[in-house]
Parts: sequence; structure tokens; C-alpha cells
Amino acid sequence: PTIYAITPTFTRPVQKAELTRLSQTFLLVPNFHWIVVEDSIKKTPLVTNLLASSGLTYTHINAPTPPHYKLGKNDPNWKKPRGVEQRNAALRWIRNNLNESHNGVIYFADDDNTYSRFLFKEIAKVKRVGVWPVGLVGGLMVERPICDKATGKVTGFNAVWKPDRPFPIDMAGFGINLKVILEKKDALFAYEIQSGFQESEILKQVTHRDELEGLADGCSKVYVWHTRTQPPVLNTETLLIKKGKSSNQGIEV
Ligand code: UGA
Ligand code: MN
Repeated sequence: PTIYAITPTFTRPVQKAELTRLSQTFLLVPNFHWIVVEDSIKKTPLVTNLLASSGLTYTHINAPTPPHYKLGKNDPNWKKPRGVEQRNAALRWIRNNLNESHNGVIYFADDDNTYSRFLFKEIAKVKRVGVWPVGLVGGLMVERPICDKATGKVTGFNAVWKPDRPFPIDMAGFGINLKVILEKKDALFAYEIQSGFQESEILKQVTHRDELEGLADGCSKVYVWHTRTQPPVLNTETLLIKKGKSSNQGIEV
């Protein structure tokens, strides 16, 4: 199958570093199609150029988060859901541009996580909806489904953070076969739901707990980490900008 990885992304000082890291991981993956969705009113030159020179097969779209749902500068990030508009735009693109003749698996690949190349071998095995462990999330070293090694059946989850979620796993911890996305043609993410429930929102529309396929060696291997890049301290740059002497005039960083 082709792996369609959907990545929401937005302008910030670390954006090019994040996308560079991701693109170079993805180059190691056979049959890969990157769907990059900018949270912006226009496609930016930075992302346009990065994709054009990436060597990857890709689709570049933009879908701005409505201002009302956008996080304020000093808001804690759990206050509003992130990536909703962008992932929905990508799902619409998929439904408009792919059909039953395509063999694919959909994966939501946020731009700040860390992906092992071995993850994609697991994603490629997803028949309907597959799940696997995610490192460094939910206050744990690893948040994971509990699976039967022989059958891959999921018997429970180890989540401690909001364990009452219908599917207590992170966005990076599941893949959905294209045929399921096409069958359940109205399944989308939503704004007006409890914080931390985006994963459950999409999953409950496309599957049931007892249908999940536990992958990554019976959910015993960690191939993706919920890393988060610390925003760099740019106080000196702020001073230079005031003097009209920013360090990156004419230089894309
Ligand atoms: C957790 C999950 O890992 C996310 O997949 C989920 O969307 C989020 O919670 C949520 O509940 O909304 P977290 O690390 O807190 O993730 O989220 P971010 O990494 O900050 O954002 C997820 C994606 O949305 C990233 O690819 C990011 O670039 C993008 N994003 C974030 C935007 O496109 N616009 C924004 O204003 C902020
Ligand atoms: Mn993140």
C-alpha cells in the first residue's frame, strides 16, 4: 500500500527544522505520499520550497484554523484542539482524489514527533484500523494498547491520562486503511469536544475497540515518540529586529 501521511503545520521559528527532520525520515519509506497542510491563509514559500526540493511525493494544501479556534500567544496548548481544520482538509482531499482502486493507509503524522523508519512497515500492515505504542506521551514513558501477541487482538490500554477516553491513545498511535476512510465518508475531526478526545472522535466514527489490529510485535515495540520541540529563546533577535538588523535578513531559517 501507499502510506498517506497527513501533517498539519504552522509558521514558527522551528518549522523548517521540524519539516526537514520529517522529510528526511520519510525519504527512507517506500511508497510514501506526504500530505502537508499549512495552517495559513496562503501557502508559504518556505513550505512550498521545502517540499519541491524534498524528493518526496507530496500534496501541499492550506487550511487556516478559524481565528476563534486559534490558540492565543500565551494560551496553554490544551486550551484549543490543534490540527482539526488541517486534518479534515486532508481527509477531504483524499476522498476527492482517491478511490477504491487505490491501496493505501492513512497516518496522522504531526510535525514535531519523532518517527522510526520501522514504524512505516507496521503502518503498511493495517487492514482496517491498526494501533501501536507511542513513547513519551500521556505522562508515561510509553502509552500503549495491550495486545495478544499471537492474534494482535487488543484487550485493553495502559493509559493513565484520561483512561475513560473511548480510544485512550495518541494521534501517532494508529493508522486507518484508505478503504475505511472511503467507506465512512463523513468521518472527520471536530472542534467542540473535550480536550484530548480528537483521536477518539475520529476512531469512534470508523471502528470499534474489538476490531483494532495491534501491531509492532504485539504492541511491544516503540517506533514513534511524542516529542515536542522547545520554542527557542530569541530575545537577542528581538533586539536586533528593533534596530532593523535581524540576523536572517534575506536568509531562510
Ligand atoms: C496532542 C496530539 O499528539 C495531537 O495530535 C492533537 O492534535 C493534540 O494533542 C490535540 O489534542 O489537539 P500536541 O503535541 O499537544 O498533541 O499538539 P501539537 O503538536 O502542538 O499540534 C498537533 C499538530 O497541529 C502539529 O502538526 C502542529 O504543527 C499542528 N498545529 C498546531 C497547527 O497546524 N496549528 C497550530 O496553531 C498549532
Ligand atoms: Mn505535538
